[in-house]
Amino acid sequence: MGFPATRMRRLRRSPGLREMVKETRLSPSQFIYPVFVTHGHKIKEEIPSMPGISRFSTDMLPEELTRVKEAGVPAVMLFGIPEKKDAAASVAYSPAGPVQRALKLMKKDFPEIIAVTDVCLCQYTDHGHCGLLEGGRILNDETLDLLAKTALSHAECGADIVAPSDMMDGRIGFIRKKLDENGFQDISILAYSAKYASAFYGPFRDAAGSTPSFGDRRSHQMDPANRREALREVLLDIEEGADIVMVKPALSYLDVIKEVRDAVCVPVAAYNVSGEYSMVKAAAAKGWLDERLVVMEILTSIARAGADIILTYHALEAAAWLKEKN
Ligand code: PBG
Repeated sequence: MGFPATRMRRLRRSPGLREMVKETRLSPSQFIYPVFVTHGHKIKEEIPSMPGISRFSTDMLPEELTRVKEAGVPAVMLFGIPEKKDAAASVAYSPAGPVQRALKLMKKDFPEIIAVTDVCLCQYTDHGHCGLLEGGRILNDETLDLLAKTALSHAECGADIVAPSDMMDGRIGFIRKKLDENGFQDISILAYSAKYASAFYGPFRDAAGSTPSFGDRRSHQMDPANRREALREVLLDIEEGADIVMVKPALSYLDVIKEVRDAVCVPVAAYNVSGEYSMVKAAAAKGWLDERLVVMEILTSIARAGADIILTYHALEAAAWLKEKN
């Protein structure tokens, strides 16, 4: 027998062989593309810290949704940026809010795109916190009412999936009940279950103007040091009725994605967040990284860790690259 008997390089000899033994295949069908919608007219403002990503007024959305459709990306996650913010986050559940208006447009002109909506109050409160405040603390149970109202209003306007990202306790069960009581038992819930208190959300908060005016989100979002706790969050959300669970951010939490994938039977999503996107864009703009190769490697690693669904600002570019074949 020749030495060595096992030669790992045999199956790496040609592109065809490598393709045949590939363990993880990416497809645009697993992407969700985040879209920022705002009030006003004729608005398409690029977010300085997120090159290639803009805020759109509803009238400018068709252009962007057409790009989504043409890329073969099946779903968008809508984030609303309201004109007026107040202590009760009233635009979050107003039928005239940016997300509600975008949903109505989607149902009419882009019914084939899956409409997922972020459900949280932080973009809508004047203090930038994810719930109602009392003496500087976020009230949990009182906030649930407003979250459920927001989710219901999204469902009424045509959302296919609502995605609570607030990290209040009990919100999934509370929202599920509210949706069911109002005849929306077929609307799914994608729970931001293991959402960490992460510095990687910085560019998103620029985009949404949702940086808290004081303090931080560590009283409700998870400590980056914890992994077992993520399983508790995920299992609780499934018990309360989540159809899909999510880990967020993705890159620094691949171990958590893997752990969750091994522990549950529901689809697992991962959010490749704004800061992860901006780091790649900034380095690529300087010519320090090959953007296409790096993005593919990042998305592949998130899928390999166990994510069935990937939320990513790279979705449209990555879908185009996948069509061309690497
Ligand atoms: C809350 C929300 C945030 C993100 C998604 N939903 C911000 C936060 O928790 O502060 C972050 C997404 C990203 O960074 O890309 N509405």
